[in-house]
Parts: sequence; C-alpha cells; structure tokens
Amino acid sequence: MTSPAILFVCLGNICRSPMAEGAARMIAAERGLGIALDSAGTGGWHRGEPPDPRAIACARRHGADISGLRARQVTRADFQRFDHVIALDPSNLDNLARIDPPASRARLSLLLDHMPGRTGQGVADPYYGGDPEFERAWADIHTGVIALFDRIAAQGILG
Ligand code: 4NP
Repeated sequence: MTSPAILFVCLGNICRSPMAEGAARMIAAERGLGIALDSAGTGGWHRGEPPDPRAIACARRHGADISGLRARQVTRADFQRFDHVIALDPSNLDNLARIDPPASRARLSLLLDHMPGRTGQGVADPYYGGDPEFERAWADIHTGVIALFDRIAAQGILG
C-alpha cells in the first residue's frame, strides 16, 4: 500500500488540528506507519503561533508533544500535496469545499465520518472551554484517528 499524506484542518490550527496531528503521529509511530502528517487552519489569525497552552497540556497528558508545531493557514496547494484533507467539524469542511480546486487530488472528509455512528459530526471546539472540553476533544480526536488508520489498514486509503 502506498503511504498516504494526511492534513488535519480546524479553524485556528491551535487547538483541535494540532491535537489531531499529535495523536496521529503517536498512533502512526506505535503502528510503524510511514504516513506524512500535517495540520492547518481555515483561518489565519494564529499564523506562526504554537498550539494553545491548554492543547499542549492536554496532548502531553496523553503522551504527545505538540509544543513544536506552528499554526498555518490552509492553501490551495494543500489539495495537491495531500491525499486526504480531514476537517475537524462541518463548518470547516464547508469552507474547505469552497476553496477545493477542480483538479484537486485530495479527498475531503470529516474526521468523525471515519467513526461508526458519528458520520457528519464535528469535534466540538474547546477554545472557549477549559480542560474538560479539551479532554472531550482529545477523546473524539484519538478515537477518530484510530478509526481513520484502521480504514487505511483495511482498504488502503488510496483505493
Ligand atoms: P481550533 O480552535 O479551531 O480548534 O484551533 C480555535 C482557535 C482559535 C479561535 C477559534 C477556534 N479563534 O477564534 O481565534
């Protein structure tokens, strides 16, 4: 199977998508998968910033170090570079679909589309919450990434 390249996208690229990238890097390492992973935001307000300290702390509690990540805004070139562009919620999926070029290589989906029973659902934005909201987001993200990787293993994500 060809190793796919996967981009996770939320709004600010400082909470949910860096946690998704961190969880995915951890799970890929555990499974010995050579997957290219990155994250970005549909918005550019936090460009160049590290993840939110609450996201860094939450990821650290679960064994992932995301402190070295820096926020960036998604670009049209991302739709050529990545096989899968994975949105963290439906509003970001809508925004991605709007800028998705016609000859795009990437497939667009929601992270939770890959989780049985959660199709169409978003990972709730923890930005205006506290540690419990970040923990809830991490739980959804971690389970969603495992479901996504199980699908890669089962059917080949490029197939
Ligand atoms: P994220 O969370 O999309 O999970 O990174 C947010 C981060 C920043 C803002 C909103 C959501 N903001 O409005 O600045």
